[in-house]
Amino acid sequence: MDVKLTVNGESQTLSIEPRVTLLDALRENLGLVGSKKGCDHGQCGACTVLIDGQRVYSCLALAVMQEGKEIVTVEGLATEENLHPVQAAFIENDGFQCGYCTPGQICASVALLEEVQQGCASAVTPDLHSPPKLAELSEAEIKERLSGNLCRCSAYNGIVAAVQQVVGQQPPSPMATVVGSRGAEEQRS
Ligand code: FES
Ligand code: FES
Repeated sequence: MDVKLTVNGESQTLSIEPRVTLLDALRENLGLVGSKKGCDHGQCGACTVLIDGQRVYSCLALAVMQEGKEIVTVEGLATEENLHPVQAAFIENDGFQCGYCTPGQICASVALLEEVQQGCASAVTPDLHSPPKLAELSEAEIKERLSGNLCRCSAYNGIVAAVQQVVGQQPPSPMATVVGSRGAEEQRS
């Protein structure tokens, strides 16, 4: 069937089977291979994209159900001149190693910022009547709010630091983390 999708600001018409997922439509039909297929079962977050500003696992969404919605993939976050601030912060804070999970982590982080600005609480928010503002986001809040995105390289410290930088906090320096973990190793031995 013919399906009209709006992806990264552009209208696209695809001729696909109704069972095709949004992830496969993006990757196989539109050549947007930034969104990754990790598990294809809604368990890893590598396929995360934004639909009308909200994060969605595109491996669990049918493409035919996305007509009339604004889809943004990692390819649509930067302008021609500048990276999205979250993308820049991932680079500055070593928020990745192999990079396979990174597009999903970045899209999830962009959505996280929007959710906090809208006053959404998380499972670790102490007072549901007073959800944190961006500048007050604790490390526990950031980790909880990104818990739907797994990283097999375990680049979590850099990912959290990147979000901290974007919300105006001072992320711990990578050297402090290395020295700190070496000190802990020495104490154990
Ligand atoms: S590929 Fe979609 S959640 Fe893993
Ligand atoms: S950077 Fe390799 S899986 Fe996350």
